[in-house]
Amino acid sequence: MIGVFDSGLGGLTVLRALVERFKAADFVYLADHAHVPYGDRPSEDIVEYTRACSEDLFERGAKLVLLGCNTATAVALRRLQQEWLPTSPWAGSHNILGIVAPTVEAATQTPWAVTAPQYPQKYNTDTIAVFGTTRTVTAGVYPDEIGKRCPKVTVVQQICSELAGAIELKRPEQELDALVRAGVDALLGQTRQVPPHRAILGCTHFPLVEHMFRKYLPPFTRILSQPEVVADSFEDYLARHPSYLGNGKERGTLTLLTTGDPAEVSELARVFWPDVPPFAKA
Ligand code: DGL
Repeated sequence: MIGVFDSGLGGLTVLRALVERFKAADFVYLADHAHVPYGDRPSEDIVEYTRACSEDLFERGAKLVLLGCNTATAVALRRLQQEWLPTSPWAGSHNILGIVAPTVEAATQTPWAVTAPQYPQKYNTDTIAVFGTTRTVTAGVYPDEIGKRCPKVTVVQQICSELAGAIELKRPEQELDALVRAGVDALLGQTRQVPPHRAILGCTHFPLVEHMFRKYLPPFTRILSQPEVVADSFEDYLARHPSYLGNGKERGTLTLLTTGDPAEVSELARVFWPDVPPFAKA
């Protein structure tokens, strides 16, 4: 069984791509609605919540947990992989992965294991926009990791601190639209109106309002689909680690859990994913 974790509903954008790609696999999704949004929380809290939720997923039978959350990946993944997992009862048999590495690989066309520039570089002078939460942006993972592999790429980051929370609170379309517009305008202000070549919606909630980003970003700017690049990379990973996949069934199971109110969460989830199964209490 594969666990997918997010602070809230954003990880469903990743889960959906995975479920479509790996029809035979069993998935369990855990959303930490008791603490969403994570984006402005102290790093220590994000590490602790992410650890507790990963542990919960392992206890439910997941052997592999994917953090379907940029904030948790940027702030907590390395600590959990290096400090917690090796001393936990799951050391050696279980693993935790994040979504920054596949996104950087896709943005740089360079494998994660390669941490120096490879020449010639296809996209070596692009400007890449990154929209994210406060913690993701201040962690600097995207500019750092892209910069190591493609030093001539310019990465321009923009904090959209209220957007994930507003999506979770089911705020009206006009309010979400105004937040997206303000974020895009601020980013274009930083690039002095020169359109970025590509954009990373570096918070898994943001693809839920991708049409709004599309409306305000210049037509020239290509939006990188994080759910798709994560699914591509996961396919690669699972080909190398097939034991995490199901055992030859035609259809896998899908279990959705929340630390919040399952009825409220299910209702909101259906806005973005109409035939999503109902959430249960974690
Ligand atoms: N969906 C998450 C991310 O990818 C976090 C949003 C939040 O909880 O602030 O960053």
